[in-house]
Amino acid sequence: MANPYEQAHARSLSDPEGFWGEIAQDIDWVKPWDKVLDASNPPFYRWFAGAECNTCHNAVDRHVDRGRGDQAALIYDSPMTGGTQKTYTYADLKDEVARFAGVLRAQGVGKGDRVIVYMPMIPEAAIAMLAVARLGAIHSVVFGGFAAAELASRIDDAKPKAMVSASCGLEPGRIVEYKPLLDGAIDLSAHKPDVCVILQRPEAKASMIPGRDVDWAEAMKTAQPTECVTVKATDPLYILYTSGTTGVPKGIVRDNGGHMVALNYTMKAIYDVQPGDVYWAASDVGWVVGHSYIVYGPLLYGCTTILYEGKPVGTPDAGAFWRVIADHKVKVLFTAPTAFRAIKREDPEAKLMARYDLSHFKALYLAGERTDPNTLEWAQKILGTPVIDHWWQTETGWSIAANCLGLHEFPVKPGSPTKAAPGWNVQVLADDGHPVGAGTIGSICCKLPLPPGTLPTLWNADKRYKEAYLSEFPGYYKTGDAGYLDEEGYVYVMSRTDDIINVAGHRLSTGQMEEVLAGHPDVAECAVIGVADELKGQMPLGFLVLKAGVAREHADIVAEVVKRVRDQIGPVAAFKKATVVKRLPKTRSGKILRGTMQKIADSEAYKMPATIDDPAILGEIEAALKAIGYAK
Ligand code: COA
Ligand code: AMP
Repeated sequence: MANPYEQAHARSLSDPEGFWGEIAQDIDWVKPWDKVLDASNPPFYRWFAGAECNTCHNAVDRHVDRGRGDQAALIYDSPMTGGTQKTYTYADLKDEVARFAGVLRAQGVGKGDRVIVYMPMIPEAAIAMLAVARLGAIHSVVFGGFAAAELASRIDDAKPKAMVSASCGLEPGRIVEYKPLLDGAIDLSAHKPDVCVILQRPEAKASMIPGRDVDWAEAMKTAQPTECVTVKATDPLYILYTSGTTGVPKGIVRDNGGHMVALNYTMKAIYDVQPGDVYWAASDVGWVVGHSYIVYGPLLYGCTTILYEGKPVGTPDAGAFWRVIADHKVKVLFTAPTAFRAIKREDPEAKLMARYDLSHFKALYLAGERTDPNTLEWAQKILGTPVIDHWWQTETGWSIAANCLGLHEFPVKPGSPTKAAPGWNVQVLADDGHPVGAGTIGSICCKLPLPPGTLPTLWNADKRYKEAYLSEFPGYYKTGDAGYLDEEGYVYVMSRTDDIINVAGHRLSTGQMEEVLAGHPDVAECAVIGVADELKGQMPLGFLVLKAGVAREHADIVAEVVKRVRDQIGPVAAFKKATVVKRLPKTRSGKILRGTMQKIADSEAYKMPATIDDPAILGEIEAALKAIGYAK
């Protein structure tokens, strides 16, 4: 007899319209769909075509309408501001969101307009997102750790009518003033937003530009609450930019209807929570995890979500996560493995845990990078609860593979995020497009159509969407990850097939960093690779070949390129190390052998590439790496 997971997974593939059509009954629709799946224009697929709805209504208002108004919707917990805690009930949240939607409407924001949200981890970030959704407009949240130039490229792509920001974010030991970054970005961008709504935080006061900037608190005093504006299920809810293989980020589009259906389903099926449970995603609203599981998923399902402004360590200590779990009776925590590695490094025996009552805690979920078996075992040992690695991407919005605790708990195999979630037909393909057998590594691909909640396209870039994801293996979505399936259908995600690296769970493009390095006047050629890092999983490392005749101190040039990456991409790139070499190893056709360089740096065995132009260069690279502490 098939277990509930097997039944759900099989039905989701054999009868996707029946499967998702039933699940969609849990959402309030203004008008039902004409078709569950519109497959009339492959490879573009649209879920719930013809339906009308509003995401903010489903995430906020309907809970108030059905008697949950007094339940905590969002708890703000901020060790960064000396321990602030603030609870918003669903009724409070509705009031704030409806009034902030009024502020935006008064500034001319309406259906289909874009609004960029550039905010730290404060409740107003979620309020702004929900207010934009309420108006039927489209938000694009930009992570605070990005530099002005990155924000500018997103302004030029999304062409927002309005920006919402705050005077500052708070990082341990420093105040990150957002307003100069915002102003700098608008100076750099060709498109100019009409208005910037700025929340003044007490830690830093932003100077305002008269005629363009509006003070959040002032505007809220007189704001008129607005109703939810009906949109099509297929209209975009948000654009979230993520690293592509070039400096131009990809604008991942998320629709309204499919997104609600999928996220609402995952709360029970994958995370096994109930409405009213406390769910905490320790991430940032600027990442997809923050969109899906700080804001939309838990609120759609009627949970209490935690918005935590702090770190796993140092705010004030490695017991911070246990303190939050105990204070708010958290049932499920979702974070990146790097956070647990940071805690383990500071408190290897988890002694600080003894101070707290964790009796409500039921499961830990990890994603953003592969959970290494050491971290998995440590977390299992100290928590004594299931620890679930699950695999997903900004593009997919929810997990492709997971141990779906709400359906059936499978035994955990270390190094694997378990099996394809319902809706996902995961196959591993060889370069020629044929599926490979169990245990053989290839490109991990998902058969089209993808389930609801996944990207229907890239913002204003249908062609790029097809080229980036759908062309290489016709009929499939290429995840960009390589790996294999075992004979029981467990998925193993091993590495990326492109230049993306994961640093502390943050997705970065080495190609983009190379573009910045190449812009330095002394650099003739360069390469950036991701090297193994005990805490962050991977760290970027640069190789610089200088122009002929450059006789400056190498240390100065390295310091300058490090600063360039910080200034142009942002501190989140964590680009701290580079080395000057005479030449880069290449194939005879001129392709830089980044994979071989990475293996040398990580002291892994490697095969001499058959197509290498000059094998002697590898010895030079190894010597340069040894000199800076790699290739041991
Ligand atoms: N605004 C401005 N700067 C930011 C920022 C933000 N929102 N977020 C990070 N930065 C800065 C950091 O201050 C740091 O700057 P520094 O070079 O001056 O030290 C830099 O970007 C790199 O940040 P990070 O890679 O996060 O390293 P860290 O040393 O500050 O912290 C961890 C390491 C493991 C504690 C941290 O990455 C963490 O808590 N990760 C949790 C998991 C997570 O959030 N994953 C996201 C997807 S689920
Ligand atoms: P992002 O879009 O930032 O979520 O990054 C997505 C990428 O992170 C994936 O394509 C993987 O390379 C990696 N990733 C995320 N979660 C996992 C996981 N659980 N196991 C392995 N890799 C992961």
